[in-house]
Amino acid sequence: MSIGLAIVGAGYWGPNLVRTALATPAFRLDWLCDLRIERARAVLGPYGTVRPTNSYDAVLSDPAVDAVAIATPAATHFDLVRSALEAGKHVLVEKPLTPSVAEGEKLASLALRSGLVLMCDHTYCYTPAVQRIRELIRGGEIGDIQFIDSVRINLGLVQPDVDVLWDLGPHDLSILDFVLPEDVTPVAVAAHVGDPIGAGRACLAYLSLWLSNGALAHAHVNWLSPTKIRTTVFGGSRRTIVWDDTNPAGRLALHDRGVDTLIGSLPQDQRREALISYRIGDTLIPALPEREALLSVMTEFGAAISENRPALTDAQAGLRVLKLLEAASRSVDRGGVRISLNGVAE
Ligand SMILES: NC(=O)c1ccc[n+]([C@@H]2O[C@H](COP(=O)([O-])OP(=O)(O)OC[C@H]3O[C@@H](n4cnc5c(N)ncnc54)[C@H](O)[C@@H]3O)[C@@H](O)[C@H]2O)c1
Repeated sequence: MSIGLAIVGAGYWGPNLVRTALATPAFRLDWLCDLRIERARAVLGPYGTVRPTNSYDAVLSDPAVDAVAIATPAATHFDLVRSALEAGKHVLVEKPLTPSVAEGEKLASLALRSGLVLMCDHTYCYTPAVQRIRELIRGGEIGDIQFIDSVRINLGLVQPDVDVLWDLGPHDLSILDFVLPEDVTPVAVAAHVGDPIGAGRACLAYLSLWLSNGALAHAHVNWLSPTKIRTTVFGGSRRTIVWDDTNPAGRLALHDRGVDTLIGSLPQDQRREALISYRIGDTLIPALPEREALLSVMTEFGAAISENRPALTDAQAGLRVLKLLEAASRSVDRGGVRISLNGVAE
């Protein structure tokens, strides 16, 4: 039996949810809700079985609706998700889960108590490239993680309610959360931001994360760059992965190049003289299936509901991302100092 679905928010991102929900057999899309009903009507077009509405109450009181997918601005997520869960609906919500950890925790425990799925749309975790990166890293293919370096910059829409850290940062942080081995976690964060156009909020940000194994991760997110760069390097002790998301012919490259040393086997006093050798090996371009990530998001949402299990990117994943974002904002407020993840400025 199909799952009755309502989508809330028909702005920039909502139409993508509509298109992919209509292409997902598990769902029967019943409603598209937006405060601007003419926008919902325009997205749906003149034909079809999906009803446009500007009444969220009408959606939540419809017993045929089992699940709600929310693509409204971050500031509205807490109230919309809470009402949906209280009405007994499963929820897929856009990133970031909420604007604060405290609100996210309330929603996570409400979903748990109610036995409902609360899933975050961490879209990148469902791309074939990121799924392969996770397999390579967790399968030990690149050895120990030594560094991660990400650049996600383009001419982006300056958002009215969030800064660039909270708009683009969730992509990098959710990817990091998804691909790192379970025993490697961030322990501290520092962030430096800029607003050179006087937008009143950060338009570019440099985020550093210290990981529990001693590695350093860095992400540069930026709304002001005229060129689009989406590249992440995952440096390992055996191999290095380079992910260039703007290059469909070679999104992933696995380099058997790196630096070898004898340092690990030498006593401390001899390490300075240790020989460093450079390894120049082959580069492999892994073949990736062509699959739209958002279709996989929808499929996973449907499967989590039918199988009565947490989604791959559940509320806990959303909360881990929020904790990093909150620590990053705290670092910004204190001039860029390093903030440990138990909240202490170092
Ligand atoms: N996963 C991704 O890659 C991705 C990409 C872009 C945006 N997003 C996320 O999607 C969400 C929406 O972003 P957007 O760029 O589409 O915003 P947007 O401003 O273009 O659209 C938001 C829509 O929500 C409607 N809305 C606002 N409050 C509402 C309410 N209470 N009830 C019903 N409708 C309401 C607005 O009228 C508007 O049409 C954000 O959380 C954003 O972070 C995710």
